[in-house]
Amino acid sequence: MKKIFISCALPYANGPCHLGHLRSTYIPADIYARYNRMIGNDVLLVSASDEHGTPIAVKADKEGKTPMEIATRYHDIIANDLKSCDISFDNFSRTTDEVHYKIAQNFFLDLYNKDLIYEKEIQQLYCEKCGKFLPDRYVEGICHYCKSEGARGDHCESCGRHLDAVDLIKPECLSCRNRPVIKNSNHYFFRLSKFQEAIEEYINSSEDMPANVRNYAKNWLKEGLKDWILSRDMDWGIPIPLDEANGKIIYVWGEAFLGYISSASQWSKKSGKKWEDYWNDKTIHFIGKDIIYHHAIFWPSLLEAYGCRLPTNIIAGEYLSLEGMKMSTSKGWVIWVEDFVKNYDSDLLRYYLTVNAPLNKDTDFSWDDFGRRVNDELADVLGNFLHRTFTFTKKFFNSEVPEYKNLNNNDIEFKEKIQNIPDKVGELISEFKFREGLVEIIKISKEGNKYFNDQEPWKAIKEDHERAANCLYLCNELSKTVAILLKPYIPKTAQKILNTMNIAGGSDWKDSKVPLEIGQEINKAKPLFKKIEDETIEEEKEKLYKNLESEEKRISGEDSMSDIITIDDFGKMDIRIGNIIKAEAIEGSKKLLKLQVDVKKKEIQVVAGIAEKYSLGELINKKVAVLVNLKPAKLFGVKSEGMILATSDSVALLSPDECEIGEKIK
Ligand code: 2FM
Ligand code: ZN
Repeated sequence: MKKIFISCALPYANGPCHLGHLRSTYIPADIYARYNRMIGNDVLLVSASDEHGTPIAVKADKEGKTPMEIATRYHDIIANDLKSCDISFDNFSRTTDEVHYKIAQNFFLDLYNKDLIYEKEIQQLYCEKCGKFLPDRYVEGICHYCKSEGARGDHCESCGRHLDAVDLIKPECLSCRNRPVIKNSNHYFFRLSKFQEAIEEYINSSEDMPANVRNYAKNWLKEGLKDWILSRDMDWGIPIPLDEANGKIIYVWGEAFLGYISSASQWSKKSGKKWEDYWNDKTIHFIGKDIIYHHAIFWPSLLEAYGCRLPTNIIAGEYLSLEGMKMSTSKGWVIWVEDFVKNYDSDLLRYYLTVNAPLNKDTDFSWDDFGRRVNDELADVLGNFLHRTFTFTKKFFNSEVPEYKNLNNNDIEFKEKIQNIPDKVGELISEFKFREGLVEIIKISKEGNKYFNDQEPWKAIKEDHERAANCLYLCNELSKTVAILLKPYIPKTAQKILNTMNIAGGSDWKDSKVPLEIGQEINKAKPLFKKIEDETIEEEKEKLYKNLESEEKRISGEDSMSDIITIDDFGKMDIRIGNIIKAEAIEGSKKLLKLQVDVKKKEIQVVAGIAEKYSLGELINKKVAVLVNLKPAKLFGVKSEGMILATSDSVALLSPDECEIGEKIK
């Protein structure tokens, strides 16, 4: 038996959980934790909400609340979201907890006393009007790399680069919109550069570390590690425990990791068990891929500095997009967990987000695909197999698992498959191949359906009673096995199956191999999965697009005029007169059309949201103005290489009838 410390990345307490969080981190960690408990390992699964950092402080300013009020609001929401999806935490705490403050401050002091944290004076932006420094998100400006507006003091959303606030062009204080000045300030740096070799050694010798984590880490190591600033001039955060550091706090990334430990030590207090025993046996961090650097480089360096055992493994789930587009909470292009579970059982979500791609690949949530998988795989394959097994047992065997004897070759082959499946799935889960394990379960259920069809028990019951009994015995046997193997994946549904079969155990993985008792009573089958209607899927898609539209309108300030641009800005747009030569509907979309547009020198494909206004016929040979140098994108899976100009509310196309095809608008 092993003790295993499993952690999930700490969600920021500045918003609820969305499907991306679940997919990358919480569902995989929970599957792994549940499976390990079932094979007899002693698991400690912890996380906490990450409650410091400027986004929370900025949100609080905007809403006229205290940061603590914001953090509490979202801590509660997040805890609920995760609970609604049955993430089986042993403890879920907060980084504003007293224990966490103490642990983080002691950790800081330990490194400071070892001279692994040092002081240095650096330049920072300072708002004279507000009388405060402007760390990270407190300032906005133009990114000096890509020249996009709205870049934050630490990060540019447009080009994805990490920024230093003093490099921003035309910076503005987010609170008062004044131009800040540059002022010197003393800060604390962690000697990350000292750990280059230790981390190289760590990454190279951690054999089981997945390739995505290893490769990212190696790339950063190649560039050489630089010291990390560990402090901020602001008051929302954990004060640096040094007299001379008055008014400075520990940078959120310098203390959030310790949430793993403070949450565990809170658990220790309650349970009387030592979390260190778990940490020292085996530690696995589940995270999203955006924080690989932090976990594979920064955190192990901090641990090494402190003198603590380094994590055994880091599992990083990749991104989830939504209907083919990058998720964006600010644009409303997102599905919140709370909204989802109002209408659908969270097991469906656990199933879909696991089965649709391996964890180390980016993937997409699409309503169509979700509906298809629920209907085809859960309802038609798994649900159908269980339902017919239980119904036949009731009808022909008086609701009791029949006795089997004289198995034929088909039976023997099928029985062997049932016996082999637990090891197969277990191995895949322990290698973090969650999707592959789940696919095996669906595959054997499919084979169950085929076996059932081939044996024709409805005929056999009249002609060859033994045949029918053997078939139903084995199908019940598979039902039990499948239910137990599904426990880590879809725990509520698995339990329902076990309840129908009156199986009291089932919490031990080995139970899946114990032969089913003859005469075991089977209850009346209840449908496990309700099919999702096409119409419902359509409605969901529409809701999503409406949301996006209204957020876009809100952000752009509907009727207000736009910002002033220069002639050069305008010159960047290559707008041509085009002629529509082909128009087609796009399956699944009421609004979008796929158009082929002749712009003289070439033909381009454009997806345009004009289906509600124009019929296909009236578009052919219509002259339009079209932006031809737009970065291509995919809408509903269809490539779009430009944009047809139209008014925003009445969706009227600009029809430049007097212009020549191919002419450029200047
Ligand atoms: O990226 C994030 O969402 C961070 N809140 C994760 C912190 S994980 C760790 F440091 F605890
Ligand atoms: Zn200001």
